[in-house]
Amino acid sequence: MKDMALKMIWSSTNCKCASIFVFLLAFSSAAVIEDGSLLNGDFETLPSGGFSSSSDAAISDGPASIPNWKTNGTVEVVESGQKQGGMILIVPQGARAVRLGNDAEISQGVKVQKGSLYSVTFSAARTCAQLESLNVSVPPASQSIDLQTLYSVQGWDSYAWAFQAEEEDAKVVFRNTGMEDDPTCGPIIDDIAIKKLFVPDKPKDNAVVNGDFEEGPWMFRNESLGVLLPTNLDEETSSLPGWIVESNRAVRYIDSYHYTVPGGKRAIELLSGKEGIISQMVQTKPNKPYRLTFSLGHASDACKQPLAVMAFAGDQAQNIHYTPNSNSTFQTADVNFTAKADRTRVAFYSVYYNTRSDDMSSLCGPVVDDIRVEQSGSTRVRIGGLGLGLFLAYQFFLWF
Ligand SMILES: *[C@@H]1O[C@H](CO)[C@@H](O)[C@H](O)[C@H]1NC(C)=O
Ligand SMILES: *[C@@H]1O[C@H](CO)[C@@H](O)[C@H](O)[C@H]1NC(C)=O
Ligand SMILES: *[C@@H]1O[C@H](CO)[C@@H](O)[C@H](O)[C@H]1NC(C)=O
Ligand SMILES: *[C@@H]1O[C@H](CO)[C@@H](O)[C@H](O)[C@H]1NC(C)=O
Ligand SMILES: *[C@@H]1O[C@H](CO)[C@@H](O)[C@H](O)[C@H]1NC(C)=O
Repeated sequence: MKDMALKMIWSSTNCKCASIFVFLLAFSSAAVIEDGSLLNGDFETLPSGGFSSSSDAAISDGPASIPNWKTNGTVEVVESGQKQGGMILIVPQGARAVRLGNDAEISQGVKVQKGSLYSVTFSAARTCAQLESLNVSVPPASQSIDLQTLYSVQGWDSYAWAFQAEEEDAKVVFRNTGMEDDPTCGPIIDDIAIKKLFVPDKPKDNAVVNGDFEEGPWMFRNESLGVLLPTNLDEETSSLPGWIVESNRAVRYIDSYHYTVPGGKRAIELLSGKEGIISQMVQTKPNKPYRLTFSLGHASDACKQPLAVMAFAGDQAQNIHYTPNSNSTFQTADVNFTAKADRTRVAFYSVYYNTRSDDMSSLCGPVVDDIRVEQSGSTRVRIGGLGLGLFLAYQFFLWF
């Protein structure tokens, strides 16, 4: 933001008012939290005074013992390699993470822009309990995230949850709502980040918003497991603007640094068969013919084939198998349909329940990307081409 403001000031020498406006903008947003990790969001910062030397862990029951965080209840800093009942505790990244005991919570205040949409990314691991779940909230918004399903064999996953800021002063809260007999059986959390989302404009010739999935939750550059997007039926507060996850399981948001994606830097990997569905209601004109096109790919994550998706567009449903040409990692597919109303549902799920062939248990699946819905049978493209030809001919004429 500040960089951009400076650039704009350098380039707009002839309009002081614009510079001043941009300056004010830069200043007024200076206090608002920047995209990325929350303060000590990876829990690597040691409490001042350090841990007691007699034990690996620091049990905190009061405020300020975990730098930058407020706690309530039994919140424990766990260290990588730490054991409990013969089991090594999982620390998603770095040397430390926190574990929330029964009904315990951890929170941090953040300054946000009122009315804006934000997404919170965090990593979580289960310990001994089977039915662990976390209540993630920025009051009054909250969502309970179920940690029952392990998506990766590493024993932890990253998740994203979005909220709309109702106040400038927000508080990000994680609470363990479990009530286990063994109070040390609580979820472990790590790597908490925030990102302000924007809803991309609807492209002119494509009815799908964010069809290339380039806008989405924060992803750490060096985290290789992608980010899970759990069930979210509210299009207005989706970590994946434009889309909802309308099934009871999550889909995975993946990046080009760790996976193969068909276009740009981000895509969606569909998991858990029919239990992982993404969808969008797109604007259409009733009784007009349309064409849904998309890229269908392989994430290069050792996912055991066959891969296939079920693609829905209006009243059409098509089962499309992944059969790329030679060395390509993706193919394009299409579904023709006639719109029945002024809003048409476009949806995708994986036909199979795939796992990785290397560990036999991490969930994986087909990748979808670059989703477009265009009116078909229109002559717009040819007219456009002709127009461009005439324009070039005219330019040529002027040149000489
Ligand atoms: C801590 O949690 C308990 C019960 O969940 C609640 O009654 C209490 O007010 C909380 N304390 C603070 C300081 O938030
Ligand atoms: C989650 O916590 C919020 C407050 O932080 C509360 O309003 C909400 O009811 C809780 N949800 C669940 C499912 O426990
Ligand atoms: C990932 O990057 C962050 C800084 O962006 C660093 O603090 C952390 O140690 C890195 N983690 C790993 C596992 O490399
Ligand atoms: C496919 O990959 C192989 C080895 O990576 C290469 O030798 C071959 O030329 C490639 N074929 C095409 C059509 O790109
Ligand atoms: C959809 O229609 C186009 C022509 O408009 C055609 O080329 C394409 O093969 C059709 N797709 C399917 C899946 O039938």
